[in-house]
Amino acid sequence: MLSLIGNTPLLAIDVRVDGAPATVYAKAEQFNLTGSIKDRMALHMLRRAYERGELEPGAPIIEATSGNTGISFAAIGRALGHPVTIFMPDWMSRERIDLIRGFGARIRLVSHEQGGFVGSISLAEVAAADLLETASRAGAVFLPRQFSNVDNIESHVVSTGPEIWWQLQAGFVIPDAFVAGVGTGGTIMGVGRYLRGKRPDIRLHPVEAASAPVLSSGRRGGEHRIQGISDEFVPSIVDLSFLDAPLAVHDGDAILMAQKLATELGLGVGISSGANFLAALQVVRELGPQVVVATVFADDNKKYLSTDLVHDEQAGDDYISPSVELLGFRSQRRDCHTCCDPVLCGTEPPPDFAPDEEPLPVCVRPRHARPRHRRSAEGR
Ligand SMILES: Cc1ncc(COP(=O)(O)O)c(C=O)c1O
Repeated sequence: MLSLIGNTPLLAIDVRVDGAPATVYAKAEQFNLTGSIKDRMALHMLRRAYERGELEPGAPIIEATSGNTGISFAAIGRALGHPVTIFMPDWMSRERIDLIRGFGARIRLVSHEQGGFVGSISLAEVAAADLLETASRAGAVFLPRQFSNVDNIESHVVSTGPEIWWQLQAGFVIPDAFVAGVGTGGTIMGVGRYLRGKRPDIRLHPVEAASAPVLSSGRRGGEHRIQGISDEFVPSIVDLSFLDAPLAVHDGDAILMAQKLATELGLGVGISSGANFLAALQVVRELGPQVVVATVFADDNKKYLSTDLVHDEQAGDDYISPSVELLGFRSQRRDCHTCCDPVLCGTEPPPDFAPDEEPLPVCVRPRHARPRHRRSAEGR
């Protein structure tokens, strides 16, 4: 399972925006085991929970989620032999519900009247507390608590962040900015923490839905169609003082951008990926076309076939997507610094294994050149 989670391709997508050519780098997270970035976090949290004795073999896992986390915990949790129960708002896509059930988890849908997202979290807490009381020992039930568990951030510090950094190094560029939509905030905080360690003045912009600007205004509520981000509150693992200003994206614009990536480049991504791409372009517009901005495509389009992603969308006056020309993309190679566990990589073959006598082909891109530091218009 380990080799099916993480180490995803990094796409270098060439665009023309406002007439100037630019490149946006996007980590293709749809290539994870269950098709989203959340596999990284679920696997890492379960690993840590085992290490700390917070999860016994076979104990139930209970979590509140807007979908992708539920799918990840369902698949990975069931594969490891755990019963999984997921609490989720009832307005999430049909595909999310069916996938969670399809992976063998139980699902409890929570309506607006029952508290929606916040209600899902408290109902998960109550269900876990009941089970714990009956069992009366730690480890008998595990509540990952993705919105407050720092292992969520750590999963991106140890995997997504280094992968982005080293894949960009392989392409001889250094990032000026990283942007990511905030659901739990694990991605922006974790990748951000790693990249700031490498480049202290990197910009880190959280992304939110323009109609539900909880990060920038603190105001709760506001409906939107970018599933996975802007979930009615600021998660406790998000430290806004560590981040730069939130960037707002209209949900219709995100839908149009995701549609454009699919119809013009064959990149079938979800709505939050469209939002992330537009946020990256906002940074390009602000800092100049030579700026190096990285982001993530959190999942693919298959979970949105029952949503507006597959319907005609009217462009608004201030939408960015109509002015974006997609020119093509390259997939940055995966990098040896992150491609495998060094311990496993170094495993000796069994004595009776007969290896192919032809030697491994020589890498066509030896690391002899110094990485170029591409600077933005502001000279950051
Ligand atoms: C589709 C999608 N995009 C973005 C995010 C946000 O990621 P994070 O929770 O790391 O902030 C999520 C989280 O569930 C998601 O499902």
